[in-house]
Amino acid sequence: MSKVMIAHAVSVDGYITGRDPGAGRGLGDGTMLFDWYFDGDTPSQVFDGFRLSEPSARVFDSLAGRVGAIVAGRNTYEDSDRFGGGGPHPAARLFVLSHRPAPEMTERQALITTGIADAIAAAREAAGGQDVGLMGGGVATEALRAGLVDEVILHQVPILLGGGRPFFQALPEHVRLRLVEAVPAPGVTHLRYEVAR
Ligand SMILES: NC(=O)c1ccc[n+]([C@@H]2O[C@H](COP(=O)([O-])OP(=O)(O)OC[C@H]3O[C@@H](n4cnc5c(N)ncnc54)[C@H](OP(=O)(O)O)[C@@H]3O)[C@@H](O)[C@H]2O)c1
Repeated sequence: MSKVMIAHAVSVDGYITGRDPGAGRGLGDGTMLFDWYFDGDTPSQVFDGFRLSEPSARVFDSLAGRVGAIVAGRNTYEDSDRFGGGGPHPAARLFVLSHRPAPEMTERQALITTGIADAIAAAREAAGGQDVGLMGGGVATEALRAGLVDEVILHQVPILLGGGRPFFQALPEHVRLRLVEAVPAPGVTHLRYEVAR
């Protein structure tokens, strides 16, 4: 069975954006969360234009190569300017989870309004045996609450942003994780956890 993973760039104090993210403003004042995508000399084999350090490229490409479909929260979709009609991953179909209609979607994008389980099921089908990536703190938390997440990956950037959108929101109970890989790299530490069941 394909896996469901959440992989986000996150500050040490747990933010996946800086203050004031939004359409046309991206991550707000937290753009340095993505500096490691472009600070190296190893081109990504999956994402055109990304040049990472060698250890980051290894981790990033092995994760990106697993993804066959993505579920993104409505905030991620809007704050990313609707991905210009495409998606956040060059090869993966995009499913946007929302409570509201989204009239301007393209054929590469689909809207799901019936909840996280339906969104992940639709993404899984589209992924054709590959894994499903989740995007957005709200979506990540919903999926953890529903027990639908297999892996949590923190690309931890050494900064305290002091504000922004949190990676994780309140959960009704503890979720135990098992660290399976820790890779220090220039400007970021990659921490891969499995959800313990
Ligand atoms: N640092 C990184 O690597 C990284 C990665 C991804 C995203 N981001 C950033 O993170 C920010 C977004 O995160 P976020 O936590 O604010 O939001 P999010 O998870 O992207 O979106 C939350 C929204 O999704 C919809 N939603 C969530 N659960 C739902 C459900 N069960 N049923 C129907 N709709 C549901 C709701 O939208 P409505 O109620 O409005 O319909 C909710 O307000 C963006 O600024 C994005 O750029 C950063």
